[in-house]
Formats: sequence, structure tokens, C-alpha cells
Amino acid sequence: MVALPIRPDAPWLAPLAGWSDLPFRLLCREMGAAVCCTEMVSAKGLVYGGRNTEELLATTSPDGDLLEDGSLARDCPLVVQIFGAEAEFMEQAVRILRHRGFSWFDVNMGCSVPKVTKTGAGAAMLRDVPNALRVAEAVIRAAGPGKAGFKIRLGWDPEHEVYLELARRLADMGAGWVTLHPRHATQGFSGVPRHAAVAELVEALSVPVLASGDLFTAADGVRVLRETGAASVMYARGALKNPAVFARHRELLQRGALEGDMPPASGVRASDAPLDAQRACDVLDALPADRAELAAVIRRHAELARRYAPLHALLKMRTFVPRYVKSLDGARALRQEIVSCSDWDALYDILERHFGDIRN
Ligand SMILES: Cc1cc2nc3c(=O)[nH]c(=O)nc-3n(C[C@H](O)[C@H](O)[C@H](O)COP(=O)(O)O)c2cc1C
Repeated sequence: MVALPIRPDAPWLAPLAGWSDLPFRLLCREMGAAVCCTEMVSAKGLVYGGRNTEELLATTSPDGDLLEDGSLARDCPLVVQIFGAEAEFMEQAVRILRHRGFSWFDVNMGCSVPKVTKTGAGAAMLRDVPNALRVAEAVIRAAGPGKAGFKIRLGWDPEHEVYLELARRLADMGAGWVTLHPRHATQGFSGVPRHAAVAELVEALSVPVLASGDLFTAADGVRVLRETGAASVMYARGALKNPAVFARHRELLQRGALEGDMPPASGVRASDAPLDAQRACDVLDALPADRAELAAVIRRHAELARRYAPLHALLKMRTFVPRYVKSLDGARALRQEIVSCSDWDALYDILERHFGDIRN
């Protein structure tokens, strides 16, 4: 079994419900993701054998180490994210997953969507720390020490911050890592993530801490690594915008961005930034508008979707492509055409008109 890389130069793909399916994970892995997380999977759904759950767990063996066309992808362990508020179901779910060959697990304690929190799961677990700890204990018992991570927020609201105490207890229990998205559940995705809290966890914990939150470009990821001392970062919306974010992240670190001067935040071009970092950011800023690169991403994504998720491939591409092209000239017209196309030929025709030959 491969070890789980948790290092600054090994960026993760965050769990993304509705998005981080097998084709997208394979794409991100090809573009430099070091670890990929599945979409969140319901522990109860798993125990009761829900059909939807099976789709979420679709994987090659193991998740593209050996692709069907015979090419060998880099090692990129798969982490299965589960959610649920009942310790018995969570423990059973992990045992089922282990039996099926999965090795790494993450517990969702950060999702603020009412459909999840009203069941007591996701970020609602931050409102009942004793139960969160019971769940954690059960998951670690089933997974083995170091094999499960926990993805948390600061707390339910500003009056009830629990991240420090909770994360300390999780580390003491045998968590393999803790990821902090430093917002309150009540914020959803609004406001600015308080990455100073990640730095606090790094100081306080004996296990690796991953940072999540508003990492839209590789420059954002590197800046947060610098500011917090986090062991690694998870890209979420940044990966949906352009999966090349992983390659850029690795590139920045290879150029010494962690030792050198810090790249400015995305979209911000500080005029007094040192030349190397400035140049790196110019490359990054230019990225979303690089038609050739996005065309290559879309072409590869379509190939992977057709091969690994044929039933929903077209629908998936109709949701992904508008995100990819958001910052391009003419994106609006392209988006409108794409959402209404009903077959692959129509999709390729539209893309061809905007990008030139995309079929290979
Ligand atoms: C569409 C979408 C789906 C998400 N699904 C999950 C999920 O299944 N599990 C989870 O722990 N977090 C989920 N998140 C939260 C992300 O993993 C991440 O922590 C959050 O988006 C902050 O990172 P970002 O601001 O860089 O996007 C989701 C976020 C988005 C935008």
C-alpha cells in the first residue's frame, strides 16, 4: 500500500460533493494532485447499500494507478470521505470500505448544507463535541491509527468555536491528519477564511494539519502554506476552475516559493513583489485565459468521463465546462450553447468553434 503524502509539495484534491467523481479525480491526478478525496459518502447509505453510494465509490483499482489504456498514473492515494452522526454506522461503514479495499478515510465535520446538518452530521457535529469524539473513536478503531482524517470548521458560529479543543482530542485519539476550513458553519462560504487559526492548529497538534479555504490559485495555496506552516493544502473551487492548479502548485514550490518571497494573493499583483514570485504569478494569472491549456483539460476530461462514467458523462461535461471557461472571452455565449447541447457531436462542435480542433 502506498503511503499518504502529506507534504507542502503534495497538494490534495478536496472532497467536492457533485464534482470529485472518478473522471475528475483521474484528471486532477494527471495534473499533479498528490491525494484525491471522493465526494462525501453517507455512512448509512453505505451500510444499507444505496445505489447512489455505489456510484460515489466507483473507482479503478486503485483509482487509476493503472489506467485502462495501460498507462501508469503516478501514485495518488484515494481518501474516501464519509459523513454521519452515529458512531455505530460510521464504524460499520469504515469496516465495509476496508473490506472493499479502501485504506484511507476522512470524516466530514464541516459541511454546512442543511440537508446534512439537520441529521446531526457534517458541521452540526461541531455543536456536539462529545458525540463527534465518539464518532471519531469508532472510525479510528475501524480504520486503524493514522488512517483517518477529520475535516472541520472553526465551530458552528463565532460564539461557539471548538476547533482547537476538538482537533487536539482528535490528534490524541489517533487521527492521521486534520483539515481546517477556517470559517464558521453559519458563514457557509461567505466572508474571509481565518487562516491564522490553521497556524494555531499547526502549533498545537502533533499530527499534520491541512489548510482549506479560498485557495483559488496555486499562489493562494503557497501563500497559505507560508502563512500557516500547514503540512499541505486542499484545492476545492480552485481545482474546479482549472485542475492545472496542482501542476502550478508543484511548479511554484520547485521554484522555491516556500523559501523565497511570498506570491501575492490571487488577482492581486503587488508591484513591489520580487521578480521570481511576480513572474510566477503572472504565469498563474494568465492561466485561466489560456485557451490552449483549457482546451487540453476539456479534451482529456471528456475522454475520462466517457470512459469511466459513460452514463452521466455528457451531463457532467455540461456542468464542468462552463466553470472552466468562466474567465475566457465569449464565455457567456459558450456556456449558453453548452447547457443546451444534447449529444457528444453537438458538444464537440461547440467546443471546436471556440477552441479549434478538440477531438484529438
Ligand atoms: C461544490 C462543493 C462541494 C463540496 N463538497 C464537500 C464535501 O463533500 N465534503 C467536504 O468536506 N467539503 C466539501 N466542500 C468544501 C470544500 O472541500 C472546501 O473545504 C471549501 O470549498 C473551501 O475551499 P475553497 O474555498 O478553496 O473552495 C465542498 C465545496 C464545494 C464548493
